[in-house]
Amino acid sequence: MTDLLHGSADSTQEVPDFPMERAPGCPFAPPPKAMELNASRQLSRVRIWDGSTPWLITGYDAIRSLFTDARASVDDRIPGYPHWNEGMLSTVHKRPRSVFTSDAEEHTRYRRMLSRPFTFKRVEALRPAVQRIADDHIDAILAGPQPADLVAGLALAVPTLVISEMLGVPYEDAEFFQEHANKGMNRYATAEDAAEGAGTLARYLKKLIHVKMDDPGENLVSDLAERVKSGEITDREAAQLATGVLIAGHETTAGQLGVSIVALLENPDQAALLRDADDPKVIAAAIEELMRYCSIIQTGQRRIATEDIDVDGVTIRAGEGIILDVAPANWDARQFPAPDRLDLTRDDGPQVGFGYGRHQCVGQQLARMELQIVLPTLLRRIPTLRLAVALEELPFKHDALAYGLYELPVSW
Ligand code: HEM
Repeated sequence: MTDLLHGSADSTQEVPDFPMERAPGCPFAPPPKAMELNASRQLSRVRIWDGSTPWLITGYDAIRSLFTDARASVDDRIPGYPHWNEGMLSTVHKRPRSVFTSDAEEHTRYRRMLSRPFTFKRVEALRPAVQRIADDHIDAILAGPQPADLVAGLALAVPTLVISEMLGVPYEDAEFFQEHANKGMNRYATAEDAAEGAGTLARYLKKLIHVKMDDPGENLVSDLAERVKSGEITDREAAQLATGVLIAGHETTAGQLGVSIVALLENPDQAALLRDADDPKVIAAAIEELMRYCSIIQTGQRRIATEDIDVDGVTIRAGEGIILDVAPANWDARQFPAPDRLDLTRDDGPQVGFGYGRHQCVGQQLARMELQIVLPTLLRRIPTLRLAVALEELPFKHDALAYGLYELPVSW
């Protein structure tokens, strides 16, 4: 559905709905409409679920400039903020502030509480453990029946185990927290979904924080519990932060692993390159290209302009909503020539799949490390790996905030 935007400089232009659909049979490409908009201009008006018409940023230069612009706020309480869905709007005044929804000093304060376990050095030290976990899961797949589901058996299992361990959340609860994370992460979540999904998880984590206050361990929930004890933050704030990390820490990496495996199976020459690489730099570059080629963040990072901002010849007015859409930016031909080609040796500059600027992903080193281990290990250990169903039959997550797969049936 499209219609006309009246009474503004854009009055002659059609305003397309957002989110947009991907083209059938092209699971890696951003939606064609977003690509078409980006061909002429790096930002355009779109219409979202509540009828408002924020700016959709699709261009690489424009997205990097707005990701680093302090006038583009993440404070979702400001009127005009383009919420993901009704669920997020319905909880906006109930949710404590967190790293995702705070600006400037408040953001720095929250971010400091989270970032220590995810620094490059700390994450690098986990490599042997993650390699072991990946190998164990591949052993189990090889010992089991065919076809095997690589989502349940590998892509979801590895990041979930790792983040559970880092947070101090019992892995036995994985099914419970995945179910609620899925509900909360639905692209079209209603108020009930939000209450049931993220709300239930926040209550679960609040309980866990109280357990760790009396019985701490070497993990992030215990660190947060310690801060609650010392009066630095409330238990609700701590639970909100931990919920964010728990959801962001497994669903995203699982989605990126799943879609990347499919992209590699569809591009056997590139898969061979990754399989045969032993230089860590080559592997690292290959993972950046997979992140560029299949950007799983598909519903746009949201901001609101607190002052007028000029971008690519357009003025975003104070009070207007902004959607930073990394998938088309990662396919912007001005930056990445022939963007529809998966080229693991590409050297066209940094991809923006982890965002950019002060809110860039806290877990990016962890996600990179997991991808750098799981993907080449899988290709080496199961060199005859193939899809067990046609590409068109794979159940991609078109209805989730982050792209991925519900199932990935493979044989070998
Ligand atoms: C491939 C996997 C991942 C992708 C594609 C991804 C993507 C992103 C993106 C695009 C942002 C920027 C948000 C914004 O600017 O509005 C972000 C932020 C964040 N990510 Fe990730 N992420 C991934 C994995 C992880 C993991 C493993 C963790 C676990 C720690 C994590 C935790 C976070 C947190 C806490 C933020 C908020 C940072 C802030 O607002 O300062 N992410 N992520």
